Amino acid sequence: MTRQAEVDKGPADTRQRSAATEPSDRSLPIGVFDSGVGGLTVLRALREQLPNERFVYLGDTARLPYGTKSPQSVTRYSLQAADLLVRRRIKYLVIACNTASAVALDALRERYAPLPVMGVIEPGAHAACAASTTRQIGVIATEGTIRGGAYQRAIMARLPDATVIGQPCSLFVALAEEGWTTGPIVEAIARRYLDAMFDQHPAIDTLLLGCTHFPVLTEALGKVLREGVRLVDSAHTTAVALQLALQERGLLRTDSPGSVQLLATDNAERFARVGSLFLGEPFARDDVEIVDLGW
Ligand code: DGL
Repeated sequence: MTRQAEVDKGPADTRQRSAATEPSDRSLPIGVFDSGVGGLTVLRALREQLPNERFVYLGDTARLPYGTKSPQSVTRYSLQAADLLVRRRIKYLVIACNTASAVALDALRERYAPLPVMGVIEPGAHAACAASTTRQIGVIATEGTIRGGAYQRAIMARLPDATVIGQPCSLFVALAEEGWTTGPIVEAIARRYLDAMFDQHPAIDTLLLGCTHFPVLTEALGKVLREGVRLVDSAHTTAVALQLALQERGLLRTDSPGSVQLLATDNAERFARVGSLFLGEPFARDDVEIVDLGW
């Protein structure tokens, strides 16, 4: 049984400031959102790193995928998702979606200041730069993330002589959402996306999973990658960065058990079935509250 939907009609105005206040209550939850279940790979790392924190996670399953949409639409969707989390009172907002981080981070920071907002692009770039010795870094992500060049900028800000090769892999999102994470079909699609990239840039030693849906494909990707290529993603580095940021602000919760509240905008049954794989532990449709963000 799903709980009653929260109705919040009307598009978010991207220029409007919210009435968010500086969070000082460390018992408040951390808000996390993604277009769907992908961000649960980030939530999993956040829970491992921050076991005493309360999390409220929103997957915008009704509007997935974000990766093929325009920056304007992704920004509007992101503001609507964040509005709901902010109204529920959170002490930190984590954008567990590369596509939304790439296009909407500034708009979210501006709208919710002084509420702190963290995206996954900077932590992902940090992980890739730390892993690479050849400074030839491949980035696989959604069309939207690659098109905007956010990873290119973030990596080159750290390693100005790096070469960053981006490859959109839109079908990986569908495979991951379908729960098809291993086997010949996934490997064939991975080869189709990656072979040309590695043929043209044989010195790539690090492949950054620039989409929060992709970590569940790690096993299949490992089968098609050349020896010695390291796979990195932003989940762990985001968790470490968040821990530091909470500590610096005196917002780290250390004294009580943590918890997770799960929200989605459509289909609690599917969210639970596929999401359990991403979160790394089973949960049921009754654990998912369906919310309405308005269109
Ligand atoms: N999880 C999103 C990301 O990290 C992508 C999925 C989508 O296209 O909505 O970019």
